[in-house]
Amino acid sequence: MQEETYQSEKFIMNRVKTGVNGLDDLIEGGFPEKSITLVSGSPGAGKSILCFQFIYEGVNNGENVLYLTLDKREEGILLQAKKLGYDFQPAIENGQATFRYLNINKKLVYETMSNEILSGKYDRIVLDSITPLSEMPLFLADTQNNMNGSGYSFVDTENQSTGLSGPVQRKHILFIMNALESSEATTIITSELSLSSSNLSRDGISEFLADGVILLKADPTMDRRKLSIFKMRNTKHTLKPQDIQINENGITLVRKTM
Ligand SMILES: Nc1ncnc2c1ncn2[C@@H]1O[C@H](COP(=O)(O)OP(=O)(O)O)[C@@H](O)[C@H]1O
Ligand SMILES: [Mg+2]
Repeated sequence: MQEETYQSEKFIMNRVKTGVNGLDDLIEGGFPEKSITLVSGSPGAGKSILCFQFIYEGVNNGENVLYLTLDKREEGILLQAKKLGYDFQPAIENGQATFRYLNINKKLVYETMSNEILSGKYDRIVLDSITPLSEMPLFLADTQNNMNGSGYSFVDTENQSTGLSGPVQRKHILFIMNALESSEATTIITSELSLSSSNLSRDGISEFLADGVILLKADPTMDRRKLSIFKMRNTKHTLKPQDIQINENGITLVRKTM
């Protein structure tokens, strides 16, 4: 791709390079600026690695990046990234990169998350993953005066036995998506799929709200990995699953030589 922007009669869309070798060429140069892309896949499919590549690209461009993790503490994530050649330590020290572990057992997890997202400091944000947040046992209640003017505040219902209903889960996800949208950053959220799942996200909602959807698949029988672009707003793209490789340099698209 020669151009980083393309011009239509109505608008110029800036593209944000993904950091994944070969992917930008398939989506007109990169993710649309300020878009939210959902990256889904089973465990080990490469979601976190794709996120590292995305924010590392940002750091290399002099941008400010935020990585919100719910799976492990920051140290574990940083070590995993470093092993793949993505050393974020210098960027953390100069304030360009922030890694934040969100503990969903803490009552203020939503506030911590929204404050960070809405700080306006970041060009790129990763939320890895949205799954525990969308499934957490907190209820949202409509109130008049609350934070962020979102129309909801969070009620701890530890002692209630009611399960998490679909509409409540939808509100969780809407809240997160709204915050990410207001941040004006270009964002990746990840979703955990089970191996046998044929859905595009664990919650069945995120794929409709996100601007883009990328599915990562690992096929153990064939020892093969695929990346599919299901959706990308304002972008002409192929739906064909692409062969990918993960090695010590992260994810790359495998080019076919004809
Ligand atoms: N150096 C490497 N060479 C080959 N494959 C690797 C390497 N490092 C990691 N992987 C593969 O990537 C997987 C981890 O990817 P990750 O992004 O953490 O998955 P997810 O976040 O989707 O659970 C590992 O299970 C392994 O299959
Ligand atoms: Mg992961």
